[in-house]
Amino acid sequence: MNPMPINENMKEVSNEPLSKEIPEGYLKELKRQEARKSELAQLLKEALKSEERIVFEAGCGHGHWLTSYAMKAPEHCCLGIDLIASRIAKANNKKDKRSLDKLHFLKAEMTEFLEVLPEYIRFQSIIFLFPDPWPKARHHKNRMIQYPLLELLAQKIAPGGKLFFRTDDRGYYDWTIEHLEASKVWAIDKDAEWIHEEATYFQDLMDSYYSVIAQPIILNG
Ligand SMILES: C[S@@+](CC[C@H](N)C(=O)[O-])C[C@H]1O[C@@H](n2cnc3c(N)ncnc32)[C@H](O)[C@@H]1O
Repeated sequence: MNPMPINENMKEVSNEPLSKEIPEGYLKELKRQEARKSELAQLLKEALKSEERIVFEAGCGHGHWLTSYAMKAPEHCCLGIDLIASRIAKANNKKDKRSLDKLHFLKAEMTEFLEVLPEYIRFQSIIFLFPDPWPKARHHKNRMIQYPLLELLAQKIAPGGKLFFRTDDRGYYDWTIEHLEASKVWAIDKDAEWIHEEATYFQDLMDSYYSVIAQPIILNG
């Protein structure tokens, strides 16, 4: 039998596998997450096939906007993701009725999606339309726009690509402007035109909204 290992402070260190120390519920959630990600990776492989550039909508809801965009530009590969399965089902109904082969909707969470997206895929455009605003200060950490995400998206944007953000929530708009202005990887592009005008389900419910477009900062050397 192996003796119990002794660390540098000469305290006894347990030789038990780590899994014994992690709560069972947490381990189960980790396993579910791994299963979800591996299924998503497979679905992405099937959907994107040999594509290298995609128009990507984060939190696409019922897929209204992206379907309309794909009808205007059927040659572009378009992918929308959303957390809610019933919304993705509605989006896929829209796609199927129009036989848009290069349009894809998948149920996925943003962080998990970015973890399993094939490394070689680049975003031609990244679109956020009316993302959940999480207006209370203690919930701001739940907003999709955060510095680490902006860094990651900048690494994955194609040359000439842009990020499009639209919200009805003034607080979230100001937050996004602040994050883009402070970011070393994105610059606000005041002259750029909105990618495609089509009211989303949520846009239709709102009286007014605010939009911002950003382009990646190309770092030399
Ligand atoms: C207010 S709705 C807007 C939906 C659609 N863009 C529109 O304008 O009609 C926000 C959507 O983002 C999705 N969402 C929120 N957080 C997400 C995340 N981390 N990953 C993927 N989707 C997310 C929600 O499920 C919801 O459908």
